[in-house]
Amino acid sequence: MSITNFRSADAQSGAQAITPKVTFQTLQEKKQAGRPITALTAYDYSTARLVDEAGVDMLLVGDSLAMVVMGYDSTLPVTMDEMLHHTRAVRRAVKHGIVVADMPYGSYHVSVAEGVANAARFIKEAGAEAVKVEGGAVRCELVERLTDAEIPVVCHLGLTPQAVHRMGGYKVQGKTLAAAEELARDARMLEAAGAVAIVLEGMPREVAAIITSQLHIPTIGIGAGPDCDGQILVFHDLVNLSFSRPAKFVRQYGDAAALFRTAIEGYIHDVEERSFPDESESYHLSKEVTDVLKTQDTEALKAPVAASKTHLIRKA
Ligand code: KIV
Repeated sequence: MSITNFRSADAQSGAQAITPKVTFQTLQEKKQAGRPITALTAYDYSTARLVDEAGVDMLLVGDSLAMVVMGYDSTLPVTMDEMLHHTRAVRRAVKHGIVVADMPYGSYHVSVAEGVANAARFIKEAGAEAVKVEGGAVRCELVERLTDAEIPVVCHLGLTPQAVHRMGGYKVQGKTLAAAEELARDARMLEAAGAVAIVLEGMPREVAAIITSQLHIPTIGIGAGPDCDGQILVFHDLVNLSFSRPAKFVRQYGDAAALFRTAIEGYIHDVEERSFPDESESYHLSKEVTDVLKTQDTEALKAPVAASKTHLIRKA
């Protein structure tokens, strides 16, 4: 946004203006009606606005921002304050979808009380409508307490990136019968504890399908096959801005890296050729002032330039 060209706060697309606000009730109805739920991550105002105006149901301010926005090699280092900062930016953009904030590693692992206090910050200070936590049965008490505190909780099972060290890398989970049964049991327990939805990441399609059929709440899949109630992708993967080889489950719908590179190279070219900015991109004095300048002694106008040059020479 140029500082000389203010956006209108009300300038929304026609579609968005008439689309009702998505709630967790809407997602529940979609599951019951067999209508797929759409979700994407978003981390800043401009992309959140595009995602929301396109009509996506859920925007997750994922801790994946540690990797795709901040350049870390895992999600572990991102802090509460950084997650709050990005959630606020997304909140300002979103009118239609549900804004879910990912609780970062360490913000709910020390105690349930600390987890509730940190989750409340996302609701109170950043305008999130729900929080997401990773983990299975071990999170049931936290999910109950958050639900008691009127904070909707999205859970996250399977390949949970905050457990990268325990898993020994980013590996598909639930591949043995015992592991699949444990995932299904965890999902049922989290639902009973009050979860409003569960993200199923990195697990065999068959396991995700069984979990989805057993739950009343919606499942949102990522690398979990097409039988989940909805799908989520990391925005930067969707548009090729991740600077890494896409995982098997990623489908790229655009090439923002190529688009941005072409734009940046064009800008460098035009500046170096002195073809940017041109006459139409320049501001002008009024005719009256220009006429005065032409006819009068312009020493006064030149003086500050001379003064600043003197200053530069003195500095050098
Ligand atoms: O942080 C994130 O982006 C996520 C999604 C992959 C579900 O947790």
